[in-house]
Amino acid sequence: MENNIIGIFSGKGGVGKTTLTVNLAISMQRFNKNVIAVDTDLKMSSLGLHLNMYKFPVTINEVLSSSKNILDALYIHPSGIRIVPAPVYAEDVDTSTLKEILSNPVLSNNYVLLDSPPGLEKNTIDVISACNAAIILTTPEIPAVADALKMVEKIKKMNVKMLGLVINMSDHDSQLDDSEIESTLGLNIIGKIPFDKNVKKSLSAKQPLVDYNPYSPAAIEIKKIAARVLNEDYKTERFLILKRIFKGIKK
Ligand SMILES: Nc1ncnc2c1ncn2[C@@H]1O[C@H](COP(=O)(O)OP(=O)(O)OP(=O)(O)O)[C@@H](O)[C@H]1O
Ligand SMILES: [Mg+2]
Repeated sequence: MENNIIGIFSGKGGVGKTTLTVNLAISMQRFNKNVIAVDTDLKMSSLGLHLNMYKFPVTINEVLSSSKNILDALYIHPSGIRIVPAPVYAEDVDTSTLKEILSNPVLSNNYVLLDSPPGLEKNTIDVISACNAAIILTTPEIPAVADALKMVEKIKKMNVKMLGLVINMSDHDSQLDDSEIESTLGLNIIGKIPFDKNVKKSLSAKQPLVDYNPYSPAAIEIKKIAARVLNEDYKTERFLILKRIFKGIKK
């Protein structure tokens, strides 16, 4: 499968990478794809927390140090996606073997989404090398876009395919308009996620947004991004819901 290992990158931290990774993974899974979300943010791991999963006998740590196989670190989330978590406490882990681990043929029928660390440290460079496609996430603020630019330049230099740009909290503290951001970064916008109170509410409810409130403004936008990444039609979902209701009526 082409472009199946997708890194979600930002320059600046805290712009919504983990939120997008989790909800995009679930939304892609709803298009009948096998999806694995991997926590590659080893110093500040939070994928498990976003998914309300905490106890992991084996994490990516042991896989990176070659003491365990990636299959030993796969956990199923009730949404249907699988995750490879990182340990909750920060540890100094060498990510040099990440590319090799993710090229394991057992993963080749899966979409693998990488929740990446912010910044351009070695850990991030190893994540860029491990993926074959990248999504850039930024908020519409000047410092975030400036940091995203450094990330974009690095990813382009490393010849990883760019799937496009997602603007998060697109209507919040916006200092730049869409075309300014697109031309600064040299990327096309593939999604604009609005600021949505449901994002925090879903975290408190310990449920991913797209399940907590599937038709909230941010959830709808993330599902549209999933459709776009997969070259599917977003309307399909509504069609499936109608089909399900119709089937129920017929019974
Ligand atoms: N569209 C949104 N609307 C409202 N709040 C949001 C939105 N997206 C993310 N947030 C909130 O912003 C905060 C940061 O999000 P998140 O943890 O996903 O960012 P991150 O880029 O993974 O951060 P880090 O760089 O620390 O890993 C969280 O509190 C999250 O709930
Ligand atoms: Mg994060």
